[in-house]
Amino acid sequence: MSVKTLADLLDDGVDGRGVLVRSDLNVPLDDGKIVDAGRIVASVPTIQALSDAGAKVIVAAHLGRPHGAPDPALSLAPVAERLAEELGRNVQLAGDVVGQDALARSEGLTEGDVLMLENVRFDPRETSKDDAERGKLAAALVDLVGDDGAFVSDGFGVVHRRQASVYDVARLLPHCAGTLVAEEAEVLARLTRNPDRPYAVVLGGSKVSDKLAVIEALAPRVDTLVIGGGMCFTFLAAQGLAVGASLLQDEMVPTCRRLLEQYADVIHLPRDIVVADAFAADAESRVVPAEGIPDGWLGLDVGPESVDRFTALLTEARTVFWNGPMGVFEFDKFAAGTRGVAEAIVTATGKGAFTVVGGGDSAAAVRALSLPEDGFTHISTGGGASLEYLEGKELPGIAVLED
Ligand code: 3PG
Repeated sequence: MSVKTLADLLDDGVDGRGVLVRSDLNVPLDDGKIVDAGRIVASVPTIQALSDAGAKVIVAAHLGRPHGAPDPALSLAPVAERLAEELGRNVQLAGDVVGQDALARSEGLTEGDVLMLENVRFDPRETSKDDAERGKLAAALVDLVGDDGAFVSDGFGVVHRRQASVYDVARLLPHCAGTLVAEEAEVLARLTRNPDRPYAVVLGGSKVSDKLAVIEALAPRVDTLVIGGGMCFTFLAAQGLAVGASLLQDEMVPTCRRLLEQYADVIHLPRDIVVADAFAADAESRVVPAEGIPDGWLGLDVGPESVDRFTALLTEARTVFWNGPMGVFEFDKFAAGTRGVAEAIVTATGKGAFTVVGGGDSAAAVRALSLPEDGFTHISTGGGASLEYLEGKELPGIAVLED
């Protein structure tokens, strides 16, 4: 089984052909402004190469979860504008997904032009569970590129979704992996194929339920599994500790208890916590031992002793995968844990370790905290996608590309 590359498609020739590119341009927005353009920047090389080679490029992407209906707050307009800046060329935005405007604009494209469709999730068929419904949207996307069109899958962050513009359309058009998807898949394959040891994984983020599958998959395979972020409180509760008003998923406590027993030598929890009297940037805060979280206070970061311990573990590792912040890094007072862990990983990279930041919030944290992006071997654009890959799940958007 093999997956064609963008280089293969360019060799076949794209001059004057319509090429549909699925990118993941799902960037965080605040009041209509892009907070972190990482995914846009990462999507440029494939679009640029196709445009330079004379393709009529049509970009399909989603923003947020609009539930199958147009929502002006989730328009791709700011994204199209930013992509145009990054590409240094005009990017038209269609007013619909596959409607009259998209069709008229696609017919008007000439060599090298770039057209972005409006948020593909404005069409309810994109995320439909009904194969036939998704198939209809996929067929309408094919109509936009015409009979000699091609499909390039470059939205790594969305390859774990069996959706019309990710999966179904690839079954209807000659297809290949874009440079981003190819690069991301190669990096993750390296993490699963005989990684250099010690192999350390750092998991954070708020919900333990989102990470259980990956913990189950990775714990037997890694030497160190550091757990921080909101999800650590369910583990601390599983150790019998009181967690005050911190995030807690009660129903997960028995599973966490079993994992702690089964992987006692591998799992490392914070020993101290930065607690606050409210979830606010200016909340009153203090550092307490993990077993001393006061009633009514909530943990918003891991404490300095934990950072020291995690740093000692991470700087000795030869392979590191990090997904999920250690605390509420968006508030300065609660950013030290995430910064400390990230800095330890940068040190490990400097000592020759292979280090991967697994997308989403942790990638945003690297940029928000002004950490050096080249301090990591790879910063993935895919949060959920990279976790599902490491869980060993088949990713529909990659499997469908195999010929
Ligand atoms: C992401 O943000 O992880 C991707 O863009 C996928 O988005 P989704 O979780 O809404 O499918």
